[in-house]
Amino acid sequence: MNILILGGGGREHALAWAVLQNPKCDRLIVAPGNAGIAGIAETARIDTEDGAAVAEFASQNAVDLVIVGPEAPLAAGVADTLRDAGIAVFGPNRDAAMVETSKSFAKALCDAASAPTAGYASFADAAAARAYVEARGAPIVVKADGLAAGKGVTVAETVGQALDAIDDIFAGQFGEAAARVVVEDLLTGEEASFFVLVDGTRILPIGTAQDHKRIGEGDTGPNTGGMGAYSPAPVMTEEVTAAALDRIVRPCVEELARRGTPYSGVLYVGLMIEDGAPRLVEFNARFGDPECQCLMIRLGAQALDLIQACAEGRLEGARVNWANDHAMCVVMAAQGYPGEPVRGTEIRGLEQLTATSGQVVFHAGTALSEGRLLATGGRVLSVTARGDDLRQARERVYAMADAVDWPEGVFRRDIGWRALS
Ligand code: AMP
Ligand code: GLY
Repeated sequence: MNILILGGGGREHALAWAVLQNPKCDRLIVAPGNAGIAGIAETARIDTEDGAAVAEFASQNAVDLVIVGPEAPLAAGVADTLRDAGIAVFGPNRDAAMVETSKSFAKALCDAASAPTAGYASFADAAAARAYVEARGAPIVVKADGLAAGKGVTVAETVGQALDAIDDIFAGQFGEAAARVVVEDLLTGEEASFFVLVDGTRILPIGTAQDHKRIGEGDTGPNTGGMGAYSPAPVMTEEVTAAALDRIVRPCVEELARRGTPYSGVLYVGLMIEDGAPRLVEFNARFGDPECQCLMIRLGAQALDLIQACAEGRLEGARVNWANDHAMCVVMAAQGYPGEPVRGTEIRGLEQLTATSGQVVFHAGTALSEGRLLATGGRVLSVTARGDDLRQARERVYAMADAVDWPEGVFRRDIGWRALS
């Protein structure tokens, strides 16, 4: 079969790598891709947020399945256009993707489904939001309603910080996301990410992970898109997983179907677990990055069978062949990230790190220029390894990161500290 993947980060390199392990895949095109992806698949330039352009490209190239990596095409309704054109697509329609693209939508969905989440209120104007925060006190969490590139959430220690966050949002710091603000109670406990495939009604769990959002070791400093991850998440015991499915995932999926906006694709369920009870922090309508890199190296070739079954509404008979393995991903970033990263530095030494079923250097922000591999983004490489236990995965992944010859690259040495301590 012919497959088109939309996106060009470490997540999409991992998806491309897994898809290519499966002999079912005849032709793989990734748009736009990156230098690492270009080494294993065809790349194409199309406007990935223009549904009509993606559908036309898919028809011209006899594409059987489109896998949408990031959230922006989903928010733009690209999956809707592809479905309407009769092209199989992995990723929800725009109305269902609102679980990620509108925090107030997600909270109201939880209310309707009686799913446990932080108490909240939602506001369309700054004065009412400020009054609520002043009455409620700190700590408190302030969120821009819409997509804000991972920067729309402030966990405020003081009322002053919360008020500043509200003012920033209504001053238009996040553009359209400024239309609304959600103010939430602070949840305490341990965070974990739970990934399930949903084909409208059926739900298939495909793995758990924990990521490290802060730039600095010991989980300090500013938030990033994610500096590393590991899978599985030890906190996601069988009991916690069953509770998350019964109280959060199933009721919310059923509510979306009941409303006539069924969810189809991967649902990223961000949880806070305290005393064995999971509560929803957020939904995302796509795989996490770098969590996806850990899931893909663990699932390997079967990832394509599962994704295809999901896109074709056939999850009923699908099952995951679990290996008793662990994976870790360490993100190598350019100096300056998550602020303005230094661009254009050269990366050497990747040729000795041959990809195997146990280790892959996924690319996130790279480009080839006259035969040299250059860093072009904030997060540049996702070094990923698998092992029989997390300790072994960590040993392998750090041996790989140390073998990368990139003096300007920075990475955290403590990925997985919580699970390994
Ligand atoms: P979100 O974009 O909603 O996932 O928020 C980003 C991060 O902020 C989460 O991964 C949590 O670490 C933190 N966060 C969000 N909401 C809460 C909350 N109600 N209580 C505690 N931490 C939160
Ligand atoms: N790693 C967090 C995310 O992809 O949203």
